[in-house]
Amino acid sequence: MFKLRHIFKPADAQQEREFERANVENKRGRYLETNPLARYERDLVYREKVDRIKAGIGEPNGLVLDIGGNTAGEATLLKQLGYDIIVGDINETALDISRERVEKFGLKAPGYVALDVHQLPFKDQSFSAVTVIEALHHFVNYDQALKEIHRVLKPGGKLFSLEPYALNPLRRASEVRDRLRATIEKSFYISQLTRLCQDAGFVNVNVASVPTGRSSWKLEEVPAYRRPITRLHAWLSVNAPSVFGTLRLEAKKAGTIAENGKPELAQLFCSPKNRNDLRRDADKKHWVEANGQHAFPELNGIPVLIAEDAIALK
Ligand SMILES: C[S@@+](CC[C@H](N)C(=O)[O-])C[C@H]1O[C@@H](n2cnc3c(N)ncnc32)[C@H](O)[C@@H]1O
Repeated sequence: MFKLRHIFKPADAQQEREFERANVENKRGRYLETNPLARYERDLVYREKVDRIKAGIGEPNGLVLDIGGNTAGEATLLKQLGYDIIVGDINETALDISRERVEKFGLKAPGYVALDVHQLPFKDQSFSAVTVIEALHHFVNYDQALKEIHRVLKPGGKLFSLEPYALNPLRRASEVRDRLRATIEKSFYISQLTRLCQDAGFVNVNVASVPTGRSSWKLEEVPAYRRPITRLHAWLSVNAPSVFGTLRLEAKKAGTIAENGKPELAQLFCSPKNRNDLRRDADKKHWVEANGQHAFPELNGIPVLIAEDAIALK
């Protein structure tokens, strides 16, 4: 629904969450029909995207967190390829669709946690790599999000991201439409993304504009009247990436990775409200803070560790 008042008041994280929930719910049937492995084999542009993420994080080694993973297509593939990966998203409905799809196709499941990147429910130095694929530009506060990502990375840990490029005029036009729909769609300049990462404490920050086509699966989603412009956009991205490409971000947390075994995911959890330890109450299917002040719900076994959803116990 388009609303003019959103020109003056951009969406907040909760509105973004509601938009994303409705969006995936509409596409539930389509997601559940698609085996991510078959898509990886048939859809060359999608394969290139997943291979680019693999190249960005390197060989499987240590725990990876994918933030803003939506229905976890990429995380599911990386899991089949030997990565130990957790997927987090503010939209628990998307994670639940992924859980159902993985079961349906008999695939290995990534770990699932519903979370808000601005208050990550993980202890410091939990992950060897964090991926944020086409999601950073959906976050309300980049500074806070990047500081949280930096906090949960181990020293020497990698950040890898793919994000829209603000130089691209076609992209900028679609951002106006999305703002009126009360969803967050933005884009970055190379210098802006570099500075944001450096300000959050990252080192070896490298941002470059790379060519990307349009995945055949995504093209099918576009109404027929818009397909010619979508195809033109894809052609321009491949042939003139310095304006129409996608930004690839690689960065590191200073230091050297020291692996210290593979902890259970639950051992890494902390409360997004106050970083207290969490334990699972198996009877109530809740995650309860160590001081017993708040509990957090589950959706079909997926912890929903979002401060907004905290249940006050005292
Ligand atoms: C365009 S989708 C990207 C999906 C996937 N990574 C991909 O490449 O296809 C952006 C995702 O970011 C998630 N998101 C938006 N705000 C968030 C937040 N504050 N914390 C965590 N995830 C968020 C949305 O729910 C959505 O699933």
